[in-house]
Amino acid sequence: MKWNLLMKTFFYVSMVALLIFLYNSLREFKNKNENSFHVKSLKKSLKKIMIKTEEKRNFYEKSKMKYILQWSSPNNSPFVYMGVGQSGFIERNCTFTNCFVTSDRNYFDDYTKFDVIAFNGPDVVRLSEHTLPKRRSVHQKFVFGSIESPHYYPVCSNKLDNFFNWTWTYKVTSDARWGYMVVRDSNYKVIGPNVEMHWMKKVAMAPVSVEFKEKLKTKTKAAAWFVSNCYSRSGREQFVKKLKEKLKKHKLSIDIYGDCGTLKCPRKKQDECTKMIERDYYFYLSFENSFAEDYVTEKLLYPLQNNAVPIVYGGANYTR
Ligand SMILES: *[C@@H]1O[C@H](CO)[C@@H](O)[C@H](O)[C@H]1NC(C)=O
Ligand SMILES: *[C@@H]1O[C@H](CO)[C@@H](O)[C@H](O)[C@H]1NC(C)=O
Repeated sequence: MKWNLLMKTFFYVSMVALLIFLYNSLREFKNKNENSFHVKSLKKSLKKIMIKTEEKRNFYEKSKMKYILQWSSPNNSPFVYMGVGQSGFIERNCTFTNCFVTSDRNYFDDYTKFDVIAFNGPDVVRLSEHTLPKRRSVHQKFVFGSIESPHYYPVCSNKLDNFFNWTWTYKVTSDARWGYMVVRDSNYKVIGPNVEMHWMKKVAMAPVSVEFKEKLKTKTKAAAWFVSNCYSRSGREQFVKKLKEKLKKHKLSIDIYGDCGTLKCPRKKQDECTKMIERDYYFYLSFENSFAEDYVTEKLLYPLQNNAVPIVYGGANYTR
């Protein structure tokens, strides 16, 4: 910390000295009524130096260590994925790895020294007011992090009004995104989810290959649904019941796996289960347990990654 301060002081003192020197030389030039060419070129180099200094300052600011305190339990998701210390950022090959994560409130002698205090949504909505930080410094960012739907964890009091500076959620408009998935283009560039999406036109797509068509020939069954929560807030069970009745008329059915159905596919055998989707089923029910804006979970990925068509049910705008 002392070294840091010393560096900074030295840096600013030398900049001030340089500016005074340049200013004086400029004045001298003017006084001597030298031709304006010199003044101009001097002004130019002064500007260059200013830009360089600003760039250096920005880089210095960005590469300084940022300290993040997890106020709620580090064992609940998404906090559990953050890693301890710099590990999460280093392991993911992030552009910036100068972030330090801890759940130790006594890491500094005062928690107002952290750059960020992060709160996990489902935890913070249940915390009573006196367990929230009582003090905050002006430079500190309070961050609301959540990957859960507000349908299950609504904020029903105003104790958190004007409390957070940033959001870190699956919402497309969140300050920082925690995504269940990303959409990439053919060059592997991430293009979504996004408020405004530019999907490829159907005519621009390559035709389905013969091999792929051959692969799809093993499919014989209409639709599968893997589900363990049988009483969801979205009411998806009632919808499935109606859908089943309609399909029956066409001698088709929905195969329900898990606690809410008659078929079993244990979590231990997940690989076999997903292979089964690929081999047997045309459709898969990617039904969310609750309705919330942008709330689309990994359920959408099972069919997409296993050559089945997802049937979606949720509160999101799925074109995003
Ligand atoms: C990070 O980079 C290393 C070395 O290039 C690579 O082995 C590793 O898979 C990368 N990790 C991630 C999460 O991309
Ligand atoms: C964070 O939000 C609080 C409360 O709204 C505000 O007083 C503070 O200035 C904000 N801090 C930063 C660094 O933006």
